[in-house]
Formats: sequence, structure tokens, C-alpha cells
Amino acid sequence: MQIIEVKTKSRPSTVYCGAGAAEKIGEVTRGKQLFVLTDTNVYRLYKEFIEEKFPAAALCVVPAGEKHKNRHTLFFILDKMLDARLRRNAMLVALGGGVVGDMGGLAASLYMRGISAVQVPTTLLAQVDSSVGGKTAIDHRGVKNVIGAFYQPQTVICDPLFLRTLPKRELRCGIGEIIKTGALDKGVYEKLKAGENRLFNLSFLEEITADCVRFKAGVVEKDECEKSGLRKSLNMGHTTGHALELFYGRRSHGAYVLIGMYFESLIAEREGILAHAYAEALRALIGKAVTLPHFENIGEAARVALYDKKNEGGDEISLIVPKDVGAYAELRLPVGRYIAYLQEIGGGIA
Ligand SMILES: NC(=O)c1ccc[n+]([C@@H]2O[C@H](COP(=O)([O-])OP(=O)(O)OC[C@H]3O[C@@H](n4cnc5c(N)ncnc54)[C@H](O)[C@@H]3O)[C@@H](O)[C@H]2O)c1
Ligand SMILES: [Zn+2]
Repeated sequence: MQIIEVKTKSRPSTVYCGAGAAEKIGEVTRGKQLFVLTDTNVYRLYKEFIEEKFPAAALCVVPAGEKHKNRHTLFFILDKMLDARLRRNAMLVALGGGVVGDMGGLAASLYMRGISAVQVPTTLLAQVDSSVGGKTAIDHRGVKNVIGAFYQPQTVICDPLFLRTLPKRELRCGIGEIIKTGALDKGVYEKLKAGENRLFNLSFLEEITADCVRFKAGVVEKDECEKSGLRKSLNMGHTTGHALELFYGRRSHGAYVLIGMYFESLIAEREGILAHAYAEALRALIGKAVTLPHFENIGEAARVALYDKKNEGGDEISLIVPKDVGAYAELRLPVGRYIAYLQEIGGGIA
């Protein structure tokens, strides 16, 4: 197990990462009035674990899935916190994937203007990405994560024990964010290339999770509230990926991030930002995690990208693209050119 400190200005957090991390739960929660939030799927799989680790906690089980990441569930959680008579020094434990983590973090930030939050991420995506960094949110009126806060957890417990029950689709989702990290960080990239034939192997994933957390911690420490633009780099692949996710919808978020990275790497290459050999190596890595479908009407999907809240509006699309191993660039393209690229590239993939 590794211990990674995230030294943010608002509140530092400690991440316990690796086999045995869950054994820290007793120490972290000792003497605290506890409120455990989880979802129906995780509760079904980990009921005994929860009862054993949190015997005296108030428990709140919410329906699983992104469609429940809304104000109704948020207020349901806040009601349960009140019912449990949580005091200001109580602790909320969000045990689940990114949906539980995001809503739990937000509820913890709101209740009595903030009680401590502990994240126990149970999906690969939540372990390598969402549980670290303090972004919390719900979706509202069809806009993802539009109501939220930056609120750092006190502790994050990333234990690979949870990954054993995770379906392949969800593993792929996390692998999407891991490969994205590989396109930003040389060390992660080299490990990924060395292990590209065992991307879905749990011991490989366990090993690389800590590297991804350390990388994200470094970014968040320097740009906690996404002010300097550094944290924006974590959106690599997301502009196109998110547009395709909204439009076509069937695959997981991480799969679309990978497909987005694939397309954006081709665009970056054509724009002369990215050298061919590295671009090919990256795309080969992506191809180990996801199969690329043929997209009908990709121009239409690209138009959706315009409504991505990360774009500052206007007639330009902003893409974070790989430049070289461990280096990235922001590419701003006129919408027309971006759409033309996608039509050309998307149509060419069988
Ligand atoms: N805060 C951030 O910085 C950040 C970053 C990336 C993503 N996110 C958010 O994270 C969310 C996606 O997270 P996610 O992919 O974890 O989704 P999720 O929480 O919906 O989990 C995916 C599915 O896996 C199930 N599950 C969870 N743990 C399991 C386990 N151990 N075994 C079997 N099934 C399990 C869940 O019940 C759910 O059905 C999105 O809402 C996204 O906006 C936030
Ligand atoms: Zn993502």
C-alpha cells in the first residue's frame, strides 16, 4: 500500500492506495459519528463489508446510476443526514463509484456548511480519477456536473479488493482515464506500453492506480480550482469523447474518452502538433482497450461538442491534445475545421 499526500491549499488529503488500504478504515473513522453513503449495487455486493467496517454508522443507500445524480437524490441524502442527527464533527463516507463519490462529497460540503468526507472508491474510474481532487457535483437540467463545489476529502481509501466484482465495461471505463493519464505523464505511459497486453489484468491495474493518483494529486495541488489551466489538461480526449457520449450514448464514459483521444490525436497530427510515430504508438495503446466503431453522422455529434461547458463559447473548439511523451498542447480550432476533420476521420474508420 502507498500513502499519497495531496497538499491542496483548502484542505490536504491523504490517499491510501493499494492492497490493504481498507484496513485503514478503522483508524480513519475511530471515534467519529459516521454516515455511510453507497448505492444499491455496491450495497448488494458489499453489505457484509459495510456492516463489519462501519458497525455503528447511519447508512444511506441510493439508487445506482448517473440518472440519479440529481437534486432529488442529493436532498434525500441531506434528509437522511438530518434524520441521523449528524453533528458538525461527523464524517460522511462515500463508498461507491464516481456517482456516489460526487454526490457524497457535495452533501458533505453542504451539511452544516461542511463536515469531513472520506472517499472509498469502488470503481476503477473513481480510484484513478474522481475520488481524488475534490470536485463534487450533481447534474441538473441535462447539464452534467453543473451544480457542485470544490471540497477536498480528508481521506481516500483506494483498495483493489473492490475491483474483483467490477464488470469489464466498468474496468474499461477506468482504463480510459488511465490511458489519458498516460498521454500526460511519461512514467505512466511507459508502464502502459510495457503492459499493453495486460491492461485488464487486476494486478497490473493495481500497480498503475497509484501512479495515476500521484499524477492527479500533483496537478490538483498546483491548480486546485482549475484556474491556471493546468487542471484542464485532465480533460484530454473529453471534448470529442463527451460529444460522442452525449450523441451515441451506448458505451461507457471512459470508452468515449479513448475514442475521443483517438480522433483528437489524428487531428493533432494533421495540425502538425503531434509526430506520427508517437501518435501511432498512442493509438495502438488505445486499440488495446477499445474497438473503434464506424460513426454515422459524426458531424452532428461534433456540433454537440460546442455545448460542452468547458468551451468558452464562440466559434472555436478547444482540444487538449498530446504533443510528445509526457507533453500536451491546447489546440483551438474553428468549429468548421473541427467538424470537417471529424467527418473525414470518422467516416474512414470501419
Ligand atoms: N469528481 C471528479 O473529479 C470526477 C472525475 C471523473 C468522473 N466523475 C464522475 O464520476 C461518475 C462516473 O463514475 P463511475 O464510472 O464510477 O460510475 P458509477 O458510480 O455510476 O459506477 C458505475 C457502476 O458500477 C457499479 N459499481 C460500483 N462499484 C462496484 C463494484 N466494486 N463492483 C461492481 N459494481 C460496482 C455502480 O453501482 C454503477 O452501476 C460520473 O458522474 C462523472 O461525472 C467525477
Ligand atoms: Zn472522464
